[in-house]
Amino acid sequence: MRILVTGAAGFIGSNFVRNLLANAYAGWEDAGVTALDKLTYAGNRDNLPAAHPRLEFVQGDVCDLGLLRDLLPGHDAVVHFAAESHVDRSLEGAGPFFRTNVLGTQTLLDAVLDSGVERVVHVSTDEVYGSIDEGSWTEDRPLLPNTPYAASKACSDLVARTYWRTHGVNLSITRCSNNYGPYQHPEKLIPLFVTNLLEGRQVPLYGDGRNIREWLHVDDHCRGIHLVLDSGRAGEIYNIGGGNERTNRAITERLLELTGSGEGMIRHVADRKAHDLRYSIDESKIREELGYVPQIGFEEGLAATVAWYRDHPDWWKAVKYGADRDHG
Ligand code: NAD
Ligand code: DAU
Repeated sequence: MRILVTGAAGFIGSNFVRNLLANAYAGWEDAGVTALDKLTYAGNRDNLPAAHPRLEFVQGDVCDLGLLRDLLPGHDAVVHFAAESHVDRSLEGAGPFFRTNVLGTQTLLDAVLDSGVERVVHVSTDEVYGSIDEGSWTEDRPLLPNTPYAASKACSDLVARTYWRTHGVNLSITRCSNNYGPYQHPEKLIPLFVTNLLEGRQVPLYGDGRNIREWLHVDDHCRGIHLVLDSGRAGEIYNIGGGNERTNRAITERLLELTGSGEGMIRHVADRKAHDLRYSIDESKIREELGYVPQIGFEEGLAATVAWYRDHPDWWKAVKYGADRDHG
């Protein structure tokens, strides 16, 4: 068995690969992994083992059809994480988002068709649904993305579906809520705020802080992806969530407590453009069909995450103050 993981040096892709190599996923204990990543500002080779007998790392672009055609033969499955992932960056410039997220997905799936890979999971996001004031999204809700990032993910989600419907690729799509955990780039809310507070710096809370996100530990997201990879039905979409809805204000206050910081560390800043008010996932399909149950409680997971950043300053300082210094 051999699996190709795109975006494998990013936050979630690297979690999936590390857990797979640690034999966390039944049925994949002996599987080899090809970790493909362009190593953009968001990709970090240090997120993966330097060497492992079952791991091959390839630096490359999902838009490179020739590379993918060379690479894919011999693989049984593909899990497609690679994307431009940060909403704020998409507000400054949408080009890389549509290139990687849309053209990259189409290019990858063309190569899948050529090579006859048997199984594909496309990792999408709950942001494709837009914003919801009440209730929760089921998989049949219309896609109403509000930012270039979300639109590019909605496009790629639809591109993926067409390769199932048109060409019969055995492909499933996941749509997950906000992830948190170790190795997340400190441009995102939780690692940005934790690392700022560990440095004694203020945290930039957008608008009134009342926007709501649904949080899930990255280990649980990857557990869900593994279930979909193994048992998900072709052409189906699976929401993955954790049920932990929190306002950004509540998250910020908890992070102040966990780092022993005072209220004065909050800096209220202008709101994000097109800032979605609330995300909420109905995940009954993956629970009922595949037996998915998240295992990490939010309070426990958040405390462990803060502890991880406290214990790994070398990792986040290199990311935050290395080549790319443009954060908060
Ligand atoms: P990330 O930004 O941490 O990682 C993305 C990775 O993709 C990086 O390693 C980057 O180098 C790589 N990459 C970017 N462009 C590439 C290209 N053209 N070719 C090859 N590799 C390329 O993102 P993440 O948070 O790990 O998200 C992974 C996936 O999960 C994305 O598709 C994202 O939309 C989705 N998702 C994320 C969340 C979340 O909360 N972070 C939630 C739901 C879904
Ligand atoms: O819902 C899934 C999505 O979650 C993924 O598809 C995206 O890839 C991922 O980045 C994430 O998107 P968000 O926009 O929700 O995450 P972010 O961490 O950027 O912001 C979370 C919330 O915190 C959001 O309401 C904006 C707010 N925020 C964020 C930053 C970076 C702030 O108030 N201040 C900040 O500095």
